[in-house]
Amino acid sequence: MSLFTRLRYFLPAVGVLLLPVIFGLRASAQDLAAGQIVKLRSIEFNPDRLLVQVGDTLTFINQDPFKHDVYIVRTADPNVVVYPATTLLSGESVVVPFMEQGLFTVYCTIHGGMKGKISTTGSFELTEEEKRKVASVKALPPIVKIGETLFWDKAQCYQCHRMGERGVGLRGPDLSDIGFRARIQAQKLGLDAATDYLIQSLLEPDAYLVDGYTNAMAIVYQPPIDLNAQEITAVIAYLQSQGGEVDTWAIDLNQETLATLPAMNPFQHGDSKRGKDVFQTFGCNSCHTVGAQKSVSVGPDLTQIGAYRNWTWLTEALLDPNAEIGAEWQYATVYLTPEEDDFFAIEETVEGFLRKNTDEEVEILVALERLERLPKERVTRVEVSKLSKMPTNYVEDLSFQQMADLITYLQTLKGSAP
Ligand code: HEC
Ligand code: HEC
Repeated sequence: MSLFTRLRYFLPAVGVLLLPVIFGLRASAQDLAAGQIVKLRSIEFNPDRLLVQVGDTLTFINQDPFKHDVYIVRTADPNVVVYPATTLLSGESVVVPFMEQGLFTVYCTIHGGMKGKISTTGSFELTEEEKRKVASVKALPPIVKIGETLFWDKAQCYQCHRMGERGVGLRGPDLSDIGFRARIQAQKLGLDAATDYLIQSLLEPDAYLVDGYTNAMAIVYQPPIDLNAQEITAVIAYLQSQGGEVDTWAIDLNQETLATLPAMNPFQHGDSKRGKDVFQTFGCNSCHTVGAQKSVSVGPDLTQIGAYRNWTWLTEALLDPNAEIGAEWQYATVYLTPEEDDFFAIEETVEGFLRKNTDEEVEILVALERLERLPKERVTRVEVSKLSKMPTNYVEDLSFQQMADLITYLQTLKGSAP
């Protein structure tokens, strides 16, 4: 088992407080001194009774040769989960902060009967120092959470895959329930385990292509995604969690595997010069102005877009323009009663971006700096489109590399307002 298969979320012990015994809980002086560390050993929590100051933490260390997990609920109401089950492989540890006063039960859900009691005492008012301590611990999430964050951010999986209600699923298969489906695929391909299929999907995507798709899956360990072995492990754990069993033990990727993979069409980091070309070739400039000279007004001015929008936001704006349409860019059709002297009494319409809709008037931007003011008496109805005027075909037309280049270019646009 390689080093990389063992993710460790190790935190240095967070300062030991000697605690006064306040409740009638039986705890020897020795238990209290070791109270900051709980060993999971011989299928027991050791110690199994603890007294903790509110705002303080407990470090659980798995000293058994097999895995355990740590799952904490309120004793009086076991439906209230204070800490969701976190798997600890042999040698791993996790630090759990205690924020509220009360009595809690800690379980290992893998080994029935393995449990302990934790009693917390102290005020609800944490000092600044305690708050900092707790915040720093909470900032280290369990592995699935790390994988989730990567999936929806740095790893950019959402650019091609949909998961549940989120993501864009045009380039790659829908990954909802992939943890479950992986098992079926593994059987079909003669692989030992579901996780082997997930590993293969990420590290050797060309080895097997899902029906109906080309080999467009990104190389996740090369730029611009560039995940390291630990990050790949976390992403796989997140995929396992979608309908399958989370088992980091089964994720056996070692450096040799990574090193022997052929360097297939490596994606380069985004290049802003190439991105600028993409911006022109794909006609972005026919709707968006960049720079001091306002030339078009079919879409928002992008002169400063890089100053206040991050990579993820920009990617989503390009992949799914209809998801969020800026307030000034709602496209509307305004229906007007015929003019008094109109012999044929034909209903008129005006189309454009809806800029104002009050009791007195409706304002529509119909062309560059051409605002039509329509008195409310003449307006019979205003129909606002749910669709953006921004084209939605870029997800198909741009390659993954062009997308990386384009967004890198957009991020350089931090110019002063025209
Ligand atoms: C550039 C688009 C693209 C990106 C980015 C991408 N994928 Fe894929 N992915 C694909 C395509 C296309 C396929 C189907 C072809 C194949 O099987 O290789 C696929 C297949 C998969 C499969 C197999 C799905 C199944 O139904 O069996 C998994 C799992 C997967 N990708 C996970 C990921 C994860 C996790 C990430 C982020 C680290 C990611 N992909 C990033 C395009 C992409
Ligand atoms: C036909 C006109 C049109 C074209 C072509 C077009 N866009 Fe847009 N774009 C819009 C409109 C209209 C909006 C505002 C509505 C919205 O947010 O969906 C918009 C919104 C955006 C936004 C969000 C800006 C913000 O501040 O809300 C970005 C970024 C963007 N476009 C980039 C691009 C890029 C890059 C291209 C070329 C690949 C492009 N657009 C091509 C019309 C266009």
